[in-house]
Amino acid sequence: MSTQRKTIIAGNWKMNKVTSQGKELASGVVNGIKDKVDLPEVVLCPPFTLLHEVLEATKGTAVKVGAQNMDYRDDGAFTGEVSPVMLVAAGVTHVIIGHSERRQFFGETNSTVNLRLKAALKHDLVPIVCVGETLDEREEGLTDAVVRRQVSASLADIDESDLETIVFAYEPVWAIGTGKVCEAVEADRVCGSIRSTINEYYSRADGPQKASKSSAGDSIPVLYGGSVKASNVDEQLALPNIDGSLVGGASLTDKDFLPIIEGGAKRVKLTPSKA
Ligand code: PGA
Repeated sequence: MSTQRKTIIAGNWKMNKVTSQGKELASGVVNGIKDKVDLPEVVLCPPFTLLHEVLEATKGTAVKVGAQNMDYRDDGAFTGEVSPVMLVAAGVTHVIIGHSERRQFFGETNSTVNLRLKAALKHDLVPIVCVGETLDEREEGLTDAVVRRQVSASLADIDESDLETIVFAYEPVWAIGTGKVCEAVEADRVCGSIRSTINEYYSRADGPQKASKSSAGDSIPVLYGGSVKASNVDEQLALPNIDGSLVGGASLTDKDFLPIIEGGAKRVKLTPSKA
């Protein structure tokens, strides 16, 4: 197990909260962790309309702010879109890419995920790239094939040396917002397979040089997401391949989210180099 991987707890607020509620939730999180030690990296991903409030509420703290999506172009006539340049100028540091709800409802594909990932890396935004199978795919035994394809396609034409900040999240679609959690051992297995897919992707069997084996995936954090709660986070984060959580429903109140951050802190404490 790599000793360098960060523990990350990210809250994806999805299309929830208006101004005052967003401020209140962000302040609740900031206040709830302010005297704590061994904290994981905490990232709040509110809707675009709340980025300003959440950035204000987290200013001067270790809490980071992420967007839930972005366009891959810098600017132009793309009504309704928000660009990486705009996010960086606003003070945003992270961006969720390829969430299954974007793939399912907004036509996001492996190739648009790849474009967004390249744009995030170009603009020094930390990308949290989501992959995961549907229930049908799982039942047909296609989980590994689907996830491996999503991971490899997202990395197309990206140099191994540009991977430094990238984060992956394994989010089985059937476990999102359903209360059905993927068994921790199975989630850990798929997170490990994401990492080995990355290693294989960057390993070369041919070329002018001798075959080379990549270990790029070993230092990339892989989070689990899908009905994460205070009651299941400890079991998940005790496993070697799960480096943190991408939390939807349970990130919408500080009462639910703070104990999940506490779960991340336990992992940091056990392996201090993962702070
Ligand atoms: P959930 O959502 O925690 O509500 O299942 C997770 C996500 O979609 O990132």
